[in-house]
Amino acid sequence: MRIGFYQFRPLFGKPDHNCRKVVDRLKSVRADLIVLPELCLTGYLFKDRTEVKALAEDPRRSASVQSLVALCRRRGFHLVTGFTEKARDKYFNSALLLGPRGIRRTYRKLHFFMEENSWFDPGDKELAVDRVNGVRIGMMICFDWVFPEVARTLALAGADVICHPSDLVLGHCQQAMLTRSLENGVFSVTANRFGTDRRPHGEVRFTGRSQIVGPRGELLFRAPSQREVVHVLKIDPARARDKAITPHNQLLKDRRPEFYT
Ligand code: ACM
Repeated sequence: MRIGFYQFRPLFGKPDHNCRKVVDRLKSVRADLIVLPELCLTGYLFKDRTEVKALAEDPRRSASVQSLVALCRRRGFHLVTGFTEKARDKYFNSALLLGPRGIRRTYRKLHFFMEENSWFDPGDKELAVDRVNGVRIGMMICFDWVFPEVARTLALAGADVICHPSDLVLGHCQQAMLTRSLENGVFSVTANRFGTDRRPHGEVRFTGRSQIVGPRGELLFRAPSQREVVHVLKIDPARARDKAITPHNQLLKDRRPEFYT
C-alpha cells in the first residue's frame, strides 16, 4: 500500500485554480491513496457564512470533484480531500473519499476551531471506515486531533490508516499525532497546507509540516514548514492490525470502557 500527501498553498476563493494545481501535480504520481489539506479547493479564512455559501458546492454536482475523480481513474488511486460542502441548506467543513468510481464517503468535521462554528453547520455523520485496496481507512479533519475520542473511534471501527486533512495554525498537532497513532496502533497521514490566507478582515498563517506516522508512533516522514511537497511511501498495513504492546497487552482489548463514562 502506497500512501502519501500533497502539501500545497491553495489560493483563497479560486477553486478552479486550486483544483487544476492538484490535478497537474498528481498526474504522474504512483500511489494507492493521497491525502490533501482541509478546505483546499476554496481556501480557509472565510469572512462569514455568506462567503461560505458563495463558494460551497454539492460534491455530486461539482466540476472540481469530477476532475479529481477523473484523476483517480487515470492514476488508479484514491484521494481524501478537504471540501467546502453544500448539502441542501446546510454547509459543512467536509472530507471526501474519492475513487475511480466516484465519491465513496463524506465525513463532516465534528470539532470546530475558532470561528468555524459561525461559518459551518456541525458535522452530522458517523466516524466510519472504508476499504481501499483491502486497507481500512478512516477520516478526521484538523482540530479533531485535540479530541482523542475521534482517532480511538476510528481505530475501534477497524481503521488501519487515519487520513487527516488539515489547515493547522497551532504548533502542537504534528507532535500530538505521534501519540494518536501510538495509542491506537494506526498509521496516520496529516496533510497540512502552508502559506497565509490574507483577507481584508484578517490573516492566518498555516504551519505545513505534513507528516506520515507509523503504528508505534514513529515519524516516517515530515515535510518542511513552507514548501510544496508530494510524498508517498510504502506501508505494510498488517503492522496496524498487530495491536500487541507487550506479549501480555493488547491495545484495544485491554481497554476498560465500563470505567470511562
Ligand atoms: C483547524 O481545525 N483548521 C485548526
